[in-house]
Amino acid sequence: MNADIVVVGSINTDFSARGARLPRPGETVEAGEFHVGLGGKGTNQAVTAARLGLRVALLGRIGSDDRGRTALAQIRSEGVDVARVGEHPGEPTGAALIAVDSAGEKMIVVAPGANARLTADEIESHAGAIRSARIVVAQLEVPVAAVLAAFRLAKSAGVRTLLDPAPARPLPDELYALTDAIKPNAGEAEALTGIAVRDRTTARAAADALRARGVGMVVLPAGDGGDLLVAADGEHWLPRYAVETVDATGAGDALAGALAVALVEGRSAREAGRFATAAAALATTKFGAIAGLPRRAEVDALLAAE
Ligand code: RIB
Repeated sequence: MNADIVVVGSINTDFSARGARLPRPGETVEAGEFHVGLGGKGTNQAVTAARLGLRVALLGRIGSDDRGRTALAQIRSEGVDVARVGEHPGEPTGAALIAVDSAGEKMIVVAPGANARLTADEIESHAGAIRSARIVVAQLEVPVAAVLAAFRLAKSAGVRTLLDPAPARPLPDELYALTDAIKPNAGEAEALTGIAVRDRTTARAAADALRARGVGMVVLPAGDGGDLLVAADGEHWLPRYAVETVDATGAGDALAGALAVALVEGRSAREAGRFATAAAALATTKFGAIAGLPRRAEVDALLAAE
């Protein structure tokens, strides 16, 4: 099958515990809920796009272990094409240790395992899938070299690209020039631009700095009230939706996956931003990354209620 969206990214097992508050360095706190489930930014983005109704393929790596095979079966059951996910015998499948507090704020430690072994050569061996997609989505839980290879292939075939620069790391200039849309969180925007993003003014400055490096569209949080989208047609304020937040894990991934869907559907920048931030808001309403990833009807209902 030709996928509309190719996601180059991570596959993890998430070990999540939710308690009253997050631990400080050196401290032990008790949690009320514990959950082991599917995760990884690439996986979450792919599942979001599939739940929103598009044809999605995931390129990535698992270890030769039961956790990886279980994860793959779960991703497949969401309708995502995982035929191009390889097994890496020398490393375990990626794992994330996640602590969530009563307000839904989270801390994550990721052990990338096999995700870190995804190579540019492997990506190039899937050139056909990338070139026939409508958009390629990537994050940084796989090596930058793999992302770069995917974006080079995409752009050489006129395929759009969307980067979630998480976790933040220094990026080569070429990658910015190959990126049509980027969605950093506030910390990532600061790491990439040196601008501390706290409000609309500082978000705009960070977005302008990223656009000056060649990125077409930037979506980023702009303080408590909402997100800012800056694109060729100007600036769009995206007020935050009022939802009951349980766990913010995966919300950024839902935003990226839904933004990719909206861009494939040809929505305007503002409409794409509203669609994507609605998906992100819904993703915070359940415990666990995958549980909250929304379906099309839920996003449409939240948009209609505004
Ligand atoms: O963005 C959330 C994801 O980050 C989690 O699912 C976890 O696996 C980490 O990769």
